[in-house]
Amino acid sequence: MSEKETIIKAVDVCKKFGDRQILNGINLEIYRGETFVIMGGSGCGKSTFLRHLIGALKPDSGSVWVLGHDLVSLNDDEMDKVKKKVGMCFQSAALFDSMTVGDNVSLPLREHTKLDKSVIDIVVKMKLELVGLRGFEALMPSQLSGGMRKRVGLARAIVMDPEIVFYDEPTAGLDPIVAGVIDKLILDLSKKLSITSIVVTHDMKSVFSIADRVAMLYEGRVLEVGAPDKIKTSKNPMIQQFITGNPDGPIKFFQQKDDYLEQLFK
Ligand SMILES: Nc1ncnc2c1ncn2[C@@H]1O[C@H](COP(=O)(O)OP(=O)(O)OP(=O)(O)O)[C@@H](O)[C@H]1O
Ligand SMILES: [Mg+2]
Repeated sequence: MSEKETIIKAVDVCKKFGDRQILNGINLEIYRGETFVIMGGSGCGKSTFLRHLIGALKPDSGSVWVLGHDLVSLNDDEMDKVKKKVGMCFQSAALFDSMTVGDNVSLPLREHTKLDKSVIDIVVKMKLELVGLRGFEALMPSQLSGGMRKRVGLARAIVMDPEIVFYDEPTAGLDPIVAGVIDKLILDLSKKLSITSIVVTHDMKSVFSIADRVAMLYEGRVLEVGAPDKIKTSKNPMIQQFITGNPDGPIKFFQQKDDYLEQLFK
């Protein structure tokens, strides 16, 4: 990447749920074409931050720029135009269990375009082929394994030929080999389709095998951002604790849990 074009920019993004400050001034720039990984402990606000980047949540303060648009100021029509250029692969695959694989994948095309059914069928076929599920159109989600469901979610995320795809924990709950297949798929799709990929994960193997750059979130802020090697050798004890998975260190899991329960039951 010789010249960097900023495709996503978060400026001082803050968000509270009730009394709890979840995002506490996030600043990030993501460049066109890169695979950008966001890591951080469970409950630190990764999914919440992603939902701001797809316009599903608005920040209490700060701004989110995607493809040159300030999402906070867009009206519904303008937001729809941006959403067409963005794909989302949800944490839980989020397939509709009553729809076939084909109908799940084609849903964005049926909702956002006036393409003929015959054209839609061809596009769906191509996207399923890209994720290694050729000929699976007629199956129901309940007939698939977890890894296959993730791949259907991935086919749906790319069905509109997006410029940006967000992946929320694409390898969670998968065995290491299937997780590796999904990681490779994300990289292949990024390169083949020139997609900018933003991947939320706490799978360290994924982080270091797919990332061009990595950001670590902690307590609603970006602790550090940089190339994987820089993060790996970071002197920040919180980052080292996260990478090594050491239960003893500056990040106190039980403190987080106590704060959480206190808020829940107060
Ligand atoms: N709609 C909501 N209303 C109230 N609280 C919420 C809402 N969404 C998220 N939260 C809270 O915000 C915090 C961050 O949640 P989020 O889902 O962003 O975490 P995460 O980093 O994605 O965690 P994980 O790695 O477990 O997926 C959690 O404490 C959660 O309870
Ligand atoms: Mg999450």
